[in-house]
Amino acid sequence: MKSITFRIKNCDSLYTVCIFVMNYLLITMNSIQKTAIDAAQKAGKVLKQGFGTNFSVSTKSQIHDLVTEYDHKSEAIIIETIRSVFPNHQILTEESGHHYSEGDIIWIVDPLDGTVNFAHGIPFFCVSIAALKDNDILCGVIYSPMTDELFIAEKDGGVTLNGQNCNVTQQTSLIHSFLVTGFPYSVKDNPQFCIEHFSHIVGLGIPIRRLGSAALDLAYVAAGRFDGFWEVALQPWDMAAGALMVKEAGGVVIDYSGNDLNVMKSSSIIAGNTDIVRALQTELAMITSEVQ
Ligand code: IPD
Ligand code: CA
Ligand code: CA
Repeated sequence: MKSITFRIKNCDSLYTVCIFVMNYLLITMNSIQKTAIDAAQKAGKVLKQGFGTNFSVSTKSQIHDLVTEYDHKSEAIIIETIRSVFPNHQILTEESGHHYSEGDIIWIVDPLDGTVNFAHGIPFFCVSIAALKDNDILCGVIYSPMTDELFIAEKDGGVTLNGQNCNVTQQTSLIHSFLVTGFPYSVKDNPQFCIEHFSHIVGLGIPIRRLGSAALDLAYVAAGRFDGFWEVALQPWDMAAGALMVKEAGGVVIDYSGNDLNVMKSSSIIAGNTDIVRALQTELAMITSEVQ
């Protein structure tokens, strides 16, 4: 009798500990997502205010690789917002690099994805924020301030666009698909034959858009606006939030070799529903083997 009572008591305390841990994880997860949304919206507001004004622009790696004073302003707001809630988390941003700390959560931030559009007065750009733990993307938030569209993805929790659930398309035929792509700033060096890839896919008669923001391209795939996306040599901040979005919308994201995407390193990626991704990968691989 004594031992049964002891076991029941032990079970009770184990149960209490489990509930406590689960609640703790849920609260942390909720506040990570809340913070990501808050940071993206605050930064987006500043970008919207700056859009079309007389701001300073300079170049980075190439003549068309631009950075404006608003990339920096947006980044500063995002870092400040994250730091005010999570002072121990690590942050990796496009403009200021890795902000180290002891924490096992790392935030990946593109403060302005679509800088060339922004600099030329084209209202297609966004803020992209993701949080990762042990290479697992916990949440991704992409905010397009000019259209006021907020995309939110939560690991195992789906994707929403302004509160409505999103799914990738069910198009199974590549020839009937509607695609989006992009080119790196080093396009003239033709990395991984990206010019031949584009010319082959467009030559199949498939309508393709090049909108100028990889993060929004991925969010649009998640929202079912495009059937698929491919681009060479993306950086963690271009793809982390969007990659989770596509997966949580029922799609897949792979690298050109067919491996699961590692968003922590520069990667060439294909995203969309399984059929389109498989078909695109086959076409790209065929062109690569023909031209190399
Ligand atoms: C760029 C955009 C663009 C893509 C480039 C990215 P940035 O990011 O996402 O669509 O084609 O590869 O570098 O410079 O505007 O943050
Ligand atoms: Ca970017
Ligand atoms: Ca950027």
